Amino acid sequence: MASLRDIYTIDPDGSTYAVPQGFDVQFNWDYDDGRAAMMGLYRKGVEMQWNADTRIDWSQELDEDNPEELPEAMLPISGMAQYEAMSRAEKATVRRHFQGWQISQFMQGEQGALICAAKIVTQVPDMDSKFYASTQVIDEARHVESYKRLLEKFRVAYPMTAPLQELIDQVLRDSRWDMTYLGMQVVIEGLALAAFQQIRDHAQNPLAAAVNAYVMQDESRHVAFGRLALRDYYPHLTQAERDEREAFLLEACYLMRDRFDAVEVWRRLGLDPAKCAEHMYDSGFMHQFRSSLFTRIVPIVKDVGLWGPTIRKGYEEMGIIGYADADVAALQEADNDIAKEFDARRAYVASVAERARALESA
Ligand SMILES: [Fe+2]
Ligand SMILES: [Fe+2]
Repeated sequence: MASLRDIYTIDPDGSTYAVPQGFDVQFNWDYDDGRAAMMGLYRKGVEMQWNADTRIDWSQELDEDNPEELPEAMLPISGMAQYEAMSRAEKATVRRHFQGWQISQFMQGEQGALICAAKIVTQVPDMDSKFYASTQVIDEARHVESYKRLLEKFRVAYPMTAPLQELIDQVLRDSRWDMTYLGMQVVIEGLALAAFQQIRDHAQNPLAAAVNAYVMQDESRHVAFGRLALRDYYPHLTQAERDEREAFLLEACYLMRDRFDAVEVWRRLGLDPAKCAEHMYDSGFMHQFRSSLFTRIVPIVKDVGLWGPTIRKGYEEMGIIGYADADVAALQEADNDIAKEFDARRAYVASVAERARALESA
C-alpha cells in the first residue's frame, strides 16, 4: 500500500508538529464510584467499542467520477460559470479533490481529537472523567484509522487547513482543562458532526456513508461527555470567567462560519480561490452545513450554562440564537439508530449473498 505521503497534494510542513504544553498532570486518590451519569456513559463507551477492520467492508470501492456519489448540489462550486464550463473529466477532478480535501480534514481533525482526549485524561481532576476520556482516546484512534483508509481510495490528500490548526492549537495551548472540553467536545466535535452528517445522509456510495455513520455514533457520545463535565463545572466559576469562555465560543463560531472555505483545493486546481470562496459562502451546501453546525453547538452552549449577555447578544447578531432550543438528545438518539441501520443493511446484504452461494452450489 502506498504511503499517504505519496498522495499529499501539498507537502505538509515537516512530518511532525509540536505544541508546547504548560499544565499540571493530575492524579486523584479518591477511587469512589463517581457520578452515576458519567459512569453510565463510561460503561456505554466500553461496551460500544468496535473494530474498523471488521465492521466496515473495505473491499467496497469509490466511484471514479464522483467518489462519494453525492448529488451535484453538494459540491459548493456547482452552478459557478467556470465550473459549469468544464469538461466531464475536469469536473470529476474537482469532485475528487473537494471530497478528498474534506476527508483529509476529518482525518487530521480526528488526530486533534485523539490528542485532546489524551490531554483530558491527564489533566481533568475527576477520576470518572478520566475513565470516560480513556474510552474516547481509543474511539479517536479508530476514527483516524477509518478516515485514513477511506482517504487512500481518493488518491489525493491535503494537510490540515490553517483555520482548523489555529483552533486546535489554541485549545491545546490553554492550560485550563475545561478549555480542552469546550474547544474539542463542543466546538470541533459539533463542527465534525455537521460535516459528517452531510456525507452520511447524502452519499450514495455505501462505504463513504457507512464510515461517517459509525464515526458519528461515537461522536455523539463524546459531545454528551463534554456536556456532563461542563454542566457540573461552570456554575462554580465567576461571571467574569464565564464571559471569557463565551467570548471564545463566539469567536470560534465566526471562524467556523467564515473560514472553512477549501481555498487550498481551488488554488491547487488553478481556480480563483476568492471567487470560489464567495460562491461557496452562498451555496445550498453551506446553508445546510451552517444550519446543521449551529443545531449541534448552540443548544449545548446554553445547556452547559455559558448563556450570559455576551453570548446571547453575539448569537442574536449572528442570527443563530433560535438554534438554542434544538432537541440534542433526539439528534444523538438518531445518530445511534442510523449507525445500527447500517449494520443491519450489511448483515442483510451478506445473508442474501450467502443464500445465492448456497443455491448455486446446490
Ligand atoms: Fe472522532
Ligand atoms: Fe470525538
